[in-house]
This record gives sequence, structure tokens and C-alpha cells, in this order.
Amino acid sequence: MVGSFLGGFQGVLGQVAEEVGRTPGRGRVADYIPALAACDPRSFGMAVAELDGSVYGVGEWEVPFSTQSVTKVFTLALDLAREGDELWEHVGREPSGNPFNSLVQLEYEGGIPRNPFVNAGALVVTDRLQTRTGDASGTLLEFLRAESGNPELDFDTEIAASEASHGDRNAALAHFMASYGNIDNPVPLLLEQYFRQCSLKASCADLARATAFLARHGVRADGSRLLTKSRAKQINAVMLTCGTYDAAGEFAHRVGLPGKSGVGGGIIAVVPGRCSVCVWSPGLDEKGNSVAGVAALDRFTTLTGLSVF
Ligand code: DON
Repeated sequence: MVGSFLGGFQGVLGQVAEEVGRTPGRGRVADYIPALAACDPRSFGMAVAELDGSVYGVGEWEVPFSTQSVTKVFTLALDLAREGDELWEHVGREPSGNPFNSLVQLEYEGGIPRNPFVNAGALVVTDRLQTRTGDASGTLLEFLRAESGNPELDFDTEIAASEASHGDRNAALAHFMASYGNIDNPVPLLLEQYFRQCSLKASCADLARATAFLARHGVRADGSRLLTKSRAKQINAVMLTCGTYDAAGEFAHRVGLPGKSGVGGGIIAVVPGRCSVCVWSPGLDEKGNSVAGVAALDRFTTLTGLSVF
């Protein structure tokens, strides 16, 4: 039977943690946001949520961490649910092959970011969600509290402030896109919303649960539908091709699942129709993806045989 493996998810997680714990070299924590630099690169947690909400975890799976770019999946889902295909006129869905904060393609491509997961694309999505809701980060928080079942989830004001004071590159991206007419809201308001969104703290358990709507093809924890099956597929596809930036090919090769990373060291991944996964370890490789996180997902799909391929 597909998905039947020794020890079930709990057994697999134990084996993954044991193997990854033996791997030397854990990468470097992000230090361009001073408040993130204080993390211990050896921290490690991982959780799996099944479609019915059952959760399994190992290591520091209940410790909140800075979710950063992982939140871009949720703002994309929330905006796509509201505006539908019009969004794709303002942001593409091709891998960029460039670092997440790169400016170079934007001028060649007329202010339309390559995809919703590079910073430029995420700024466009947050801007559009802000226009539609009047409070993009509040809409995100309400959604994540509901899906995770954790009413305590919140933003970290220290991280948001730290990022705002080192946010020149994001400000440049936003102003540049505004000059092409691809940003609706005043740039300072957009940046405030974006930095707040990135500062959200959540654990692997919270994020595995909150990602399960993508494994359920768009259906939320309460049984209501956020996205059509087709739009849930679009998000999973763009996660697979663009979710780990200029390492998306390597991630697909090693892991074989839609995934999305953040510089806090978290990665979420989806096994459509089966489960969602979140892993966290703050040491990053040179592309900004968690070294132990990618290794753990690589072992997870190998041990379980669960991948989209
Ligand atoms: O925009 C930034 O620089 C961060 N707040 C988010 C970056 C991030 O997590 C990119 N991912 N790997």
C-alpha cells in the first residue's frame, strides 16, 4: 500500500532525526537580519500532519521559530482565493534562477516579478492582498491561527523592526515595481505589512497543520474550501519549481515534493492527498535554504517513498 512503512510517520521521523543528527556541517544562520543571527544552527525539529489533522513530531517540533519566506505560500493562497487568475497578470510563475532578493530581472521584465516566492513577487502578492482585505498581515494571522488550531500564533515585533531597519533592498524592489505601476499601496505601508508577515513565529507543528490545506487540494481544516483543486495544484506547482529559489532544481531532485523555505531555517513541504511536513533547522546553505532541513526532507521521501514522482 502506498504510504505504508515501518513504524509509521513517528518511526520515520525518529530515523530521520537520528540520521540528520549524525551529519556534520549545519550551515550558517542568516545574519542580515540581526535578530535572526542569535539562533543556534544545531536546533532541529520536524513535524508531519496527516489530512485528518493528526500530527507527529520529533526534536524541537513545538518550538516557535521565525517563519520568514514560508509565509509567502499562505499570502499567495489567500490572494489567489480572492482575485483568481488576475493575479498572474502581475506576477509570473517561472523559476528565476536568481537569489531571492535579486533586482536584476525586474528591469528586463517590465516590473513583473518572475514568481510569487522571490521577494519582488511576494511584495506584489502582499500588496494585492492588502488592497483586497485592508490588512494583509492580519488576514494571514487569522488564517494561520485557524488552520494550525493555535490561537497564540503571533508576529515578533523585534524581528519586524530589525528587518525594517535593514530593509533597503526590499524597499528598492517595491519602489522599482511601483515605478512600473505594479504596486497599489504606498510603499511604506506595503513594507510594514511585508516585514510583519515575515516576522511570524510558529513551530513545525503549527506549520505542518497550517499547510495541510494544500495536501487536501484546497480544503481548510474546518472542511470549507479555500481554493479550487486546480488552484491548489497551481500553488503546489509553483512551490516545486520556485519555492527554494535558485536551488529549486536541486530540491526537486533530492526531495521530489513542493516545498517552500525561509531564512529562519524552516521549510514546508506537501505530499498532495497524503500529508504536509515542516522541518526547521536555522543553519542555511549559500542559497538560503536550511542544510539539515533539506537533508531531512531528502531522507523522509526516501524512507517513505512519498514524493510526487
Ligand atoms: O525579505 C526578506 O529578506 C526576508 N524577510 C524573507 C527572506 C526569506 O526568508 C527568503 N527565503 N529564503
